[in-house]
Amino acid sequence: MKVIQVGIGGMGATWLAAVQRSPAVEFAGFVEIDDEIARAQAAAYQLDPSLIFHSLPAALENVEADAVINVTPPEVHREICVSALEAGTPVLTEKPLAGNLEDARAIVAAADATGVLCSVAQNYRYRPLTQTIKRVLASGELGAAAAVRCEFFRGPHFGGFREEMPQPLIVDMSIHHFDLMRFFLGSDAVAIRARSWNPPWSWFAGDASAAALIEFENGLQASYTGSWCSQALETSWNADWRVECERGVLLAQDDRLYAQRLLSVDEGARGLASAHDEKREIPLVNMEREGQDYLLQEFFEAVTKGAAIGTTAQDNIHTMEFVFGVVAACDSGGLINL
Ligand SMILES: NC(=O)c1ccc[n+]([C@@H]2O[C@H](COP(=O)([O-])OP(=O)(O)OC[C@H]3O[C@@H](n4cnc5c(N)ncnc54)[C@H](O)[C@@H]3O)[C@@H](O)[C@H]2O)c1
Repeated sequence: MKVIQVGIGGMGATWLAAVQRSPAVEFAGFVEIDDEIARAQAAAYQLDPSLIFHSLPAALENVEADAVINVTPPEVHREICVSALEAGTPVLTEKPLAGNLEDARAIVAAADATGVLCSVAQNYRYRPLTQTIKRVLASGELGAAAAVRCEFFRGPHFGGFREEMPQPLIVDMSIHHFDLMRFFLGSDAVAIRARSWNPPWSWFAGDASAAALIEFENGLQASYTGSWCSQALETSWNADWRVECERGVLLAQDDRLYAQRLLSVDEGARGLASAHDEKREIPLVNMEREGQDYLLQEFFEAVTKGAAIGTTAQDNIHTMEFVFGVVAACDSGGLINL
């Protein structure tokens, strides 16, 4: 499969490397609007400079491509995705699907109208920790889940568009954790309360910290707290998680997973009369491919063999509604029903 990659700076480097590692996918061409970035990346990744174009239509006109990988900033996702889809070319786009809900819905409408695949890179789903959490919950060994707590604290200095956005944490980062909630719980958010704020020492123009309470369609409850301005004791990028289940608790901390099961309850006794097994560490699943490598192979199988894909734009619109529901709850200070 031959692909055009749009946006080769920043996160684009991760995708350049993923395609170069893949035995199934190769480059037809590239699109990059910044000539300095184009020159630097051509040298670093041995790209043919004559295959780097200034726009997607120019690239589509000049090279034969089976698909597009979009790694541009969110505000140009609509333009890139819609022109790929309207040209009949499947697209694998970075998250967030778009910079706002209106643009995201326009991409879904173009995917529906053309019948062409639009896949969204929710790479956090395809990691050993998150795959193991999903498997333990699905196995039923801890009984039904009722509530989830997710905590995320880091202090990255990115520069660029994130430091100018109104809601950098929620729209650019928490989107991964909210998408993971949908993945773990198999349900969509229906009601949200949230607050966001910017710590006094923040280097972001928008709010770098937030807290949210979320109710899901299947009745499950989630709480989320996060910050991109934390100065110490960072969590992992995957965040720390606690899932309250009927017969035990699942705990993810620093990318390690633990469970403790309830063995019995002495109905006649008062106070602490429950028996538990030992808190045990759960080994993480081995994955042949993770993150971008997984997504690229999945996209290849979908484009060339019609295989199913986990995170289509049509599914991902529910993650976008969740994210912008949290933003709306922060803006209004009230309850947002989706
Ligand atoms: N999934 C993840 O873990 C993850 C991590 C980082 C970034 N991202 C996502 O990747 C996307 C890009 O983020 P980034 O950090 O690389 O941004 P960036 O600004 O560092 O890089 C974007 C690149 O796209 C180029 N570009 C901008 N507009 C273009 C256009 N119209 N046509 C062609 N090229 C264009 C820029 O010149 C730059 O090279 C965002 O949607 C971001 O949220 C995802």
